[in-house]
Amino acid sequence: MSATSYDRAAELRALDATYAGVRGLVASGVTHVPLIFRVSDQHSEPQQHTTVPAGQELAAIPIIDLGCGDHAGVVAAVRQAAAEWGFFQVTGHGVPETVMATATDAVRAFHEADGGEGSDKARLYSREPARAVKYHCNFDLYQSPVANWRDTLYLRMAPTPPDADDLPDSCRNVLFEYAHQVKNLGNTLLELLSEALGLKPSHLEDIECNQAQVLLCHYYPPCPQPKLAIGTSRHSDGGFLTILLQDEIGGLQILKEEQWVEVTPTPGAFIVNIGDLLQLISNDGFRSVEHRVLAKNVAPRVSIANFFGTHIDPTSTRIYCPIKELLSDKKLPLYRETLASDYIKHYYSIGLDAKTAISHYQL
Ligand code: OGA
Ligand code: NI
Repeated sequence: MSATSYDRAAELRALDATYAGVRGLVASGVTHVPLIFRVSDQHSEPQQHTTVPAGQELAAIPIIDLGCGDHAGVVAAVRQAAAEWGFFQVTGHGVPETVMATATDAVRAFHEADGGEGSDKARLYSREPARAVKYHCNFDLYQSPVANWRDTLYLRMAPTPPDADDLPDSCRNVLFEYAHQVKNLGNTLLELLSEALGLKPSHLEDIECNQAQVLLCHYYPPCPQPKLAIGTSRHSDGGFLTILLQDEIGGLQILKEEQWVEVTPTPGAFIVNIGDLLQLISNDGFRSVEHRVLAKNVAPRVSIANFFGTHIDPTSTRIYCPIKELLSDKKLPLYRETLASDYIKHYYSIGLDAKTAISHYQL
């Protein structure tokens, strides 16, 4: 069947109706990637840029030991990594390894449970923006040009914590504890990033860069034809800051000087990256960098992405613009101001496919 002779919308709806996502397809024994997931030349995936073979990168993504005791050294390393790479890994972060491991295990257990009538997955299956706890196969299934080989459990933990009863049984306590620990790490990182910009440590927290906290608990099932699909399409993150935990499978890549560079799994480390809104308010002092996740056929991959951003609250009047202290006659603003809620709405209206949202605000 050619790509044009099938009813794409009907197939997307049929997948949705299973309440079991890509995991359900794989559990049912698919041996071919269905057309809705197939990447093609019209899309930006996956062959457009070459991938640097692991071990041959010009330089590796920086790893920063937050617990090394050299505060000025840590601030300088964070400044350089956020400006040049937009991505770094952190160790010595204070989050206990057991909390990281039990969170990953709980997420895996949720995704590996069966879907269908009466299940937790069926109860939670939704893409409704207002819902704080939901499960779905691709938040942008009906907007994006290519469906991703991935399912996601979505938890909005702040500004208003969800009703504990809404969380799946297997995840409840574990993910509340995980979110609490990562929130503390997020505050530490926002302080370091404030200092790295030459501002007082509380600056980014004072302007509520951590107001909303969302956990995306991703599951990437093994893919029978990994070259024909993509785990997560290339994109940049929309919020201020992302703290990502990935398991040992690998597949995350970032775009650096037109080449895809692997983010090698580092046991015990978190990956930290700058989002679009932090690039905007830092007036390009920090960079929000495109990244993607390849599909793999070896084993399922689990990751937990923690976003600090602003909640899509239609009544919010908070405005973000390049921080005044960073501007001068020689450093003019590169972006116009935006209502926090408008930026996020704009970001979601596009769906994942390249870094497109921020250019809308460029002066
Ligand atoms: C994301 C993301 C990467 C991963 O959720 O925005 O880029 O490894 N996730 O799952
Ligand atoms: Ni991302």
